[in-house]
Amino acid sequence: MRDVAAAAAPAGPRVLPRNDPRQYDDLAGEWWRPDGAFAMLHWLAEARAALVPPATRPDALLVDLGCGAGLLAPHLTGKGYRHVGVDLTHSALVQAAEHGVRVVQGDATAVPLPAGCADVVSAGELLEHVPAWPRVVAEACRLLRPGGLLVLDTLNDTALARLVAVRIAERMPTVPRGIHDPRLFVDAGALVAECARHGVDLRVRGVRPQAGGLVAWLLRRARASRSGATPTGPVPRIVPTRSTAVLYQGWGVRNG
Ligand SMILES: C[S@@+](CC[C@H](N)C(=O)[O-])C[C@H]1O[C@@H](n2cnc3c(N)ncnc32)[C@H](O)[C@@H]1O
Repeated sequence: MRDVAAAAAPAGPRVLPRNDPRQYDDLAGEWWRPDGAFAMLHWLAEARAALVPPATRPDALLVDLGCGAGLLAPHLTGKGYRHVGVDLTHSALVQAAEHGVRVVQGDATAVPLPAGCADVVSAGELLEHVPAWPRVVAEACRLLRPGGLLVLDTLNDTALARLVAVRIAERMPTVPRGIHDPRLFVDAGALVAECARHGVDLRVRGVRPQAGGLVAWLLRRARASRSGATPTGPVPRIVPTRSTAVLYQGWGVRNG
């Protein structure tokens, strides 16, 4: 017999396994909301873009692996790059294209672009989502021309990162719950070694949201959501921190 109660129940959000890429489809409406579930990605994109110098030649290419909805794009304005984004998630790529990114649907572990095509490769908040992250590193380095720059940020494979980035951050409105699988977090030493194997001397530094700015933003966001408004005012800056134990940036040039 058909269960009438179940049939009549409103469809709730589906619960997917941790790091299931279908989460990005379910969250498609969040990417460009400054107070949405991906808010922190905007702050990180600005900090990552700050590592990218202006292009030194016409037609310079920046390949943005795991570009999502193209949040890096506004922060590259005026730097002189063609911005090509590669991602698995079609719903995100549609939005990236609306923000001026030339999009390629594909896997960052096997990128359908030629070797040596990129002046800059960016891998923002990607490696910790890919079980075979060394293959992403190999692809990033393959895409770089000699002298090209790799920039990235990711989460370290530490107990502190699992506490802060999963148990704490995923309870806050800035990070979607279940988006991370902590088993995939990326040991900073292993990442540096893997980049070196592929000719990139990667430097790393810890980063975090500036604490006062984060608290002020969370309070403004809570007040605004009570009144149904969109919060206004400055967003937290991402600042360097001494420890790489949680979130870290990496950058390095490919040897000639
Ligand atoms: C946390 S989001 C980061 C998006 C973007 N880099 C940003 O910082 O706004 C991770 C992105 O990686 C994409 N992704 C995950 N695994 C991937 C893979 N193997 N190849 C390409 N993209 C992947 C997801 O679809 C998602 O858009």
